[in-house]
Amino acid sequence: MKVAVTGATGTIGLAVVRALADRGDQVVALTRDPGAAARRLPAGAEAVCWSAPKEEPAPPEALSGCDAAIHLLGESVAQRCTDGARREIRDSRVLGTRMLVDGLRAADPRPGVLLGGSASGYYGARGDEEVDESSPPGDDFLARVVVEWEAEARRAAELGLRVAMARTGVVLSSSGGALEKMLPPFKLGVGGPVAGGRQYVPWVDLDDVAGAVLFCLDRPDASGPINVCAPEPVTNRRLAQELGAVLGRPAVLPVPAFPLRLLYGDMASIVTAGVRAVPRRLQELGYAFRRPELRASLRAATGGD
Ligand SMILES: NC(=O)c1ccc[n+]([C@@H]2O[C@H](COP(=O)([O-])OP(=O)(O)OC[C@H]3O[C@@H](n4cnc5c(N)ncnc54)[C@H](OP(=O)(O)O)[C@@H]3O)[C@@H](O)[C@H]2O)c1
Repeated sequence: MKVAVTGATGTIGLAVVRALADRGDQVVALTRDPGAAARRLPAGAEAVCWSAPKEEPAPPEALSGCDAAIHLLGESVAQRCTDGARREIRDSRVLGTRMLVDGLRAADPRPGVLLGGSASGYYGARGDEEVDESSPPGDDFLARVVVEWEAEARRAAELGLRVAMARTGVVLSSSGGALEKMLPPFKLGVGGPVAGGRQYVPWVDLDDVAGAVLFCLDRPDASGPINVCAPEPVTNRRLAQELGAVLGRPAVLPVPAFPLRLLYGDMASIVTAGVRAVPRRLQELGYAFRRPELRASLRAATGGD
């Protein structure tokens, strides 16, 4: 299989590219900086320049002849929430997806599948309510971005592609995402539950994100939104306890929401609000999770496995 991947140099992208390469698939990475990408990508992966994903269509010649496209690029949400950051977070996803679909339109022959990135932020803050792919969207900034982002990906279906969207939860990896930010205080023994700790974290192991993406690529009946999160979401308090246990450090110091909101603004809701998302579609399709248990996943993510 030949697969075009955007965001291939990111936390999820690299895991996906490695999994594709491991099974003998050919990877074409579309990146803003092919030189830097080539240094990070596994041997054999080709890096092609897509310098302005918000402004110009993805290069059709790089997409032509690919069997599938996996679209994972996006400005990081883990940053200070300024107007400029919000715009870039939205535009890189919404306009970036529009430009990818424009590139797909011009490709000949076109890939048969688009696996689009998405996020459990789609659901907004839902308290204890269990949500699956049939649940309606939330109404905060991130939820509105995800709704627009998915709508752009769906346009590829008009071109005859099968479109699936990986509504990914909080990925456990020491090289990116929420866990990377949590690790330093926990390692110093000053970590603990955030914002009361009762909110649910739709965590997912990085290997399962790559596993689920490849699974959805291969399954002709995988389409539409697909929650990519572990079968048992846990509360933030339990996540803190388990992380403390894995690191051999106490994890009892509560972290108030206020400084996080000050630092990350709307984006703080990823850890302060939470969502109890479950992977209904993946389970219906029969995906076998590699690390469905939190402690094993935290061990792997922190280098203990
Ligand atoms: N990690 C998580 O916990 C998580 C959870 C839910 C959803 N997701 C979503 O999954 C996707 C991949 O996540 P990730 O954690 O792998 O992201 P990441 O590590 O931040 O990498 C994203 C990649 O996108 C490209 N990129 C970054 N900023 C960009 C911008 N402003 N405009 C265009 N391209 C840009 C970069 O590739 P180049 O520099 O090579 O162009 C980068 O390697 C994102 O859309 C993210 O929202 C992630």
